[in-house]
Amino acid sequence: MPAISASAPAKVILFGEHAVVYGKPAIAAPVHQVSAKAIISPDVRGAQGRIQIVAPAIGLDQILDSLPQNDPIATAIRLTLKSLKIEKAPALKIRINSSIPVASGLGSGTAVSVAIIRALSAFLGYPLPNEEISRLAFEVEKLHHGTPSGIDNTVVTFEKPVYFVRDQTVNTFEVGKAIHLVIGDTGKSSATRSVVEDVRGAWKEEPERYESIFDVIGQISLKAFQAMQAGEIELIGQLMDDNHRYLQDLDVSSKELDTMVEAARAAGAKGAKLSGGGGEAAI
Ligand code: PMV
Repeated sequence: MPAISASAPAKVILFGEHAVVYGKPAIAAPVHQVSAKAIISPDVRGAQGRIQIVAPAIGLDQILDSLPQNDPIATAIRLTLKSLKIEKAPALKIRINSSIPVASGLGSGTAVSVAIIRALSAFLGYPLPNEEISRLAFEVEKLHHGTPSGIDNTVVTFEKPVYFVRDQTVNTFEVGKAIHLVIGDTGKSSATRSVVEDVRGAWKEEPERYESIFDVIGQISLKAFQAMQAGEIELIGQLMDDNHRYLQDLDVSSKELDTMVEAARAAGAKGAKLSGGGGEAAI
């Protein structure tokens, strides 16, 4: 068996984060400038079933069986084998390289999962279709997020802009005109899971207020979907500004994020917003 590799891009959420968890539409796009790559090679001397995982960026060099049940990389591998109904894989080595900043709203964990699932299924001779890759990556997401909407695994797997509503069929689309995005990084990382939990706690305390914010954000996403297809750049910018204000209302922005958003506008951006979970970090 020759070595096989597969890559998956980063992603950026353009509209609708957080509200998407509550069934509202959101828009995300792949970011191809950075990516995760999984390289699978046979280990001719290894015993059947021995899977070695090497991820230099996070200092990981371990055997699959020694990784905890809830380890995301191990879960991606186990779910792939289960989906293919393979009980014991041939001995192999999985090397993971990623240029995607971690915990910064760019979907690094998702890209690693998708790259592993895609490469491993191809290596074993049964390349999985995108729908199944996305479904398995979603299962892994649950370890990172608890209650993910599914937008990250969808956009990272399908590698196209998506208009996403949870539990509905995937809707990829083309933009009417090129949109130039500048993605900034505060340099601070933040766990999506805890920000999503904070929003959930606040929503439970003030359901009406939070639901009305989710509704408005959903309407912004719908308008943005139409504006992106029509190539209405000015409107897209305005909608980003509007969306950022409502993310501030959800209390998921931060001083650093607001400063970056202001700087982008002052530098001539048509609009600016944070992207992803927010909290202390992100873009
Ligand atoms: O922080 P990220 O980029 O993984 O984005 C999370 C987006 C949320 O809407 C906050 C959560 C979700 O599961 O959709």
